[in-house]
Amino acid sequence: MNNDDFRKWGHVAADWAADYRATLGERPVRAPLHPGRVLDALPSTAPERGEAMEAIVADFENLIIPGMTHWQHPRFFAYFPANAPAPSVIAEQYANAIAAQCMLWQTSPAATELETRMMEWLRDALGLSKGFTGVINDSASSATFSAVLMMRERATSGTGNSKGLAGQKTLRVYASREVHSSIDKAIWMAGIGIDNLVRIPVAGKTRAMDAAALDAAITADLAAGHLPCGIIACVGGTSVGGTDNIEAVVAVARKHNLFVYVDAAWAGSAMICEEYRHFWQGIDGVDALVFNPHKWLGTQFDCAVLFVKEPSHLAQTLAIRPDYLKTQGADGIVNYSELSTVLGRRFRALKIWFLLRSYGIAALRDVIRNHVAWAEKLAAMLSKAPDMRIVTNPMLSLFSFRHEPASVADLDAHNLALVKAINDDGRIYLTQSSLEGRTIIRFQCGSFDMREADVDVAYQAITEVAAKLNAS
Ligand SMILES: Cc1ncc(COP(=O)(O)O)c(C=O)c1O
Repeated sequence: MNNDDFRKWGHVAADWAADYRATLGERPVRAPLHPGRVLDALPSTAPERGEAMEAIVADFENLIIPGMTHWQHPRFFAYFPANAPAPSVIAEQYANAIAAQCMLWQTSPAATELETRMMEWLRDALGLSKGFTGVINDSASSATFSAVLMMRERATSGTGNSKGLAGQKTLRVYASREVHSSIDKAIWMAGIGIDNLVRIPVAGKTRAMDAAALDAAITADLAAGHLPCGIIACVGGTSVGGTDNIEAVVAVARKHNLFVYVDAAWAGSAMICEEYRHFWQGIDGVDALVFNPHKWLGTQFDCAVLFVKEPSHLAQTLAIRPDYLKTQGADGIVNYSELSTVLGRRFRALKIWFLLRSYGIAALRDVIRNHVAWAEKLAAMLSKAPDMRIVTNPMLSLFSFRHEPASVADLDAHNLALVKAINDDGRIYLTQSSLEGRTIIRFQCGSFDMREADVDVAYQAITEVAAKLNAS
């Protein structure tokens, strides 16, 4: 493709994007479930000779788009969002054009220094103390893996990396069952072993770890000769928004000299609003935390931020400096790959910069406050609807409910069938979860294009489909 054609097809893609976004609300949110349909329509081998862009773009429209679930849809109420408002998308287009690999300062000086400044902007916007240093990761899963490696190396005085874990005392990490499955994976990958992720029971409406039980579990492990290495708390757990009492967790950690990591992948964005910061009261006492600007804040996927108190400890855990990665003739530089589990890094700071400058923090606060208010509105409406029960009250913009008609014997199966029927209806998209062994339906709102009227559509869709299912 020559540069003239590059320009032409770039314009075609930009026009397509604007049309797509303008008409998104008219499409069903979730792709129809036809496993194998797209795969079957694709040739089984790559073409030997290049094809015309016209044909490729036509296939994209006709084959790929009908098989997509639309994450930017205003009535995407299923998983936590992956918002991509226009300024982020445009920033990504620029980043794509430059196509830089931002592993070292010298491979991308401006990207590195922009990342440093954006981490400061975000830290201050969330109300975190200046003692935190940030680094952009692709996902919360990667950030969590870094944090678990940090706690492992701190507990083993760096010998996990040098000698491995064989022959060491058994490492132990503590978390409730409200944490995301990425915590389990990080424990696997760090070689700690899932049996050594000690599950602490939760108490109260926020489903916070019971601090006395946490203390007792650590004390028992010490007595058994194990090596406790860290506590993983969550603020806004994925299933129903479970939120630990950070102050209480930090107090237990201090007593036993343990590392504390907080997963606020989703809820962290809401901390740009001062009135929600009580959810992570005590956060300045933790060693590290993650939040995903790519979820609720609007920096296009992917963009997760790991904040740490001791970047030098993160570097001791992850930095590796072969000669070919050294920079000659520049002092006082940061190489962000030395604070990451991976070497290669995309230019992700650009979309944070475009987003924050284009919206301003005040407008982003309004977006989040609206989502919280609209989730509360829908929960209040559903609480009065026939046979509907709110199971967990809104935690920010997430709540859960069940449909419980007296005529139905198996309510778990009924609610699973209801989620499927609602999603097949196409007006909205929800997911199920479980709480204490019972099926629940999750509702969260967070799409940047959502408006209050979309809550009314959600109410109609849920109650109409439930009534129809009940009658069938
Ligand atoms: C609370 C929480 N933590 C971690 C994750 C994992 O996020 P990522 O996809 O960025 O790895 C999720 C995903 O939704 C989440 O909800």
